[in-house]
This record gives sequence, C-alpha cells and structure tokens, in this order.
Amino acid sequence: MKDLMRLRSLLGTEVEALLNNQIKMEAYNSSVYLAMASWCDRNGFDYSADHFYKQAEDEREHMLRFFKYVSDMGGTAVSPSVDGIPQEFESFREVFESALELEVKTTQAINNIADKCYKEKDHVTVEFLNWFHKEQREEEYVARRCLELFEVIGEEGTGRWEIDKAIPSVSYGNE
Ligand SMILES: [Fe+2]
Ligand SMILES: [Fe+2]
Repeated sequence: MKDLMRLRSLLGTEVEALLNNQIKMEAYNSSVYLAMASWCDRNGFDYSADHFYKQAEDEREHMLRFFKYVSDMGGTAVSPSVDGIPQEFESFREVFESALELEVKTTQAINNIADKCYKEKDHVTVEFLNWFHKEQREEEYVARRCLELFEVIGEEGTGRWEIDKAIPSVSYGNE
C-alpha cells in the first residue's frame, strides 16, 4: 500500500514545479494585459483597450488550463500570487512592444517545460502542452501584426488613432 502513495501523482516533481511556475506566469500575463488595457483606456485608445481586456481573459483561461491539469494529475496546483505589474508605459507603441516580449517569453517557458517532459519521458504532459504550442504560435502572430501597424500606418498626425482603429481587425489566419 505504501507504494501506492508514490503513484498518487502522475507528475514528476520537477515537471510539477515547472507547471506551477507556468500557472504563475499566465496569471502575471493576465494582470499585465489588464494594466495595458487600463493604460490604453486612459490615453484614449479604446479599441486597443478592448484588445487587451480580451488578452487578459485569455491568459486567465491559460492559467486555469495549467491549474486544472496539475490538479487532475494528482499534483498540488498552487494558487498564484503576482506582483511587480507595470502600470505605466512610455508610449502607445511601447505597450505593444511589451506585449510581444511577454508572448515570446511565454513561448520560451512552455518550450522549456516540453524539453523537460521529453527528458523525463512524460508523454502525457507533452500531449497536454501541444495545445499551448499552437496557441503561442497564434499569440505571437497577433502581437507581431499589431506592432507592424506602427510601421505600416506610421504614428504621425492621426496615425495612432488609425492604428488603434485597425487593432480589432488583427487576427490569426482571419479566423
Ligand atoms: Fe498565455
Ligand atoms: Fe498570451
């Protein structure tokens, strides 16, 4: 019976720790996007604010996916505390630069978990992570496209106003 206790969790200790880090990262991302929505709202970029509110919701959903997975696998899902959320941004453009940076870091973190899973032969978690690899491909695509609008449209004159208006039309594969 004692041996059964060790089978309580299907997750290795290190994979479980990485997944808990990811729960924290997704919660952090959600809060950063909320701060970006607030910044856009108070600076008159309504469409971008809506975009970031939606991103904040998506990140919370990601957080919950990881959270429920750890729990379902018999691990201990740790409810995340987040701090150090930037509330101010230098410019409209910097908000979108930071968003892309956030997504690139997230992709790297998820790749890092997958590397560990391959090493540990944890194919179950590898399969779980596949959804996130595809999601990150879309998230990075959208973040890059949004940032490209600053080059394509330009910030002069009514440029920023035009960029803001174009944000809702950015989507992955026009889905
Ligand atoms: Fe995410
Ligand atoms: Fe994301």
